[in-house]
Amino acid sequence: MFTSKTGVFISFEGIDGCGKSTQVDLLINKLKDNGKNPVLVREPGGTGISEEIRDTLLKTQNSLMSSRTEALLMTASRAQLTKEIIIPELANNRYIIADRFKDSTLAYQSGGRGLNLEFLIKLNNFATYDIDPDLTFFIDIDPVSAEQRIKSNSLDRIESAGIKFQTKVRESYLKIAKLFPARFHIIDGMDTIQNIHNSIWDILINYKNEIS
Ligand code: TMP
Repeated sequence: MFTSKTGVFISFEGIDGCGKSTQVDLLINKLKDNGKNPVLVREPGGTGISEEIRDTLLKTQNSLMSSRTEALLMTASRAQLTKEIIIPELANNRYIIADRFKDSTLAYQSGGRGLNLEFLIKLNNFATYDIDPDLTFFIDIDPVSAEQRIKSNSLDRIESAGIKFQTKVRESYLKIAKLFPARFHIIDGMDTIQNIHNSIWDILINYKNEIS
């Protein structure tokens, strides 16, 4: 049970099919069971404007989209989400759970698409008013297993990019984790759903104890 009133900003990251949305749901329910009223957001998206941007980004018909357009739209969606929801809810001391945030742009648009990492870090900081999550859970899974998990679903434009792309994205996440070691936690995504959830919960409790 939590005693401190301060909220925590938590992001979930990983390649497509890593199981992060399942873990997001479990954490949200656990926080509710503990008397919290968490805010759930997803990226790209999470506000009216950002969801419109999401549609443009993920439509399979938009195959002509350039990598730079993709990066700018991802960060435009994030800027709106940050201004409209994240900043006010952090001020309200709410728990914010983000199904993807700024590290997705670093992993997908830098690692996956080959754009410059340092530039994307600056662009991200502009979009997020320099706000970082307190904790980032990277659910790490090998791209072959991830592909098998999403095979049956109808794939969006980025999910359709294939296994080589997802492999580059995963490698990029591992590199980014080293850049931000204080908030990044690499979680073994091949473990059972319950074990993964327990690890995430333990890390959150430790974090709360450290800051209170
Ligand atoms: P989702 O499937 O987790 O909702 O994410 C949608 C897709 O968008 C997923 O393939 C990852 C990708 N993406 C990026 O390429 N860059 C970003 O900054 C974000 C937030 C998502």
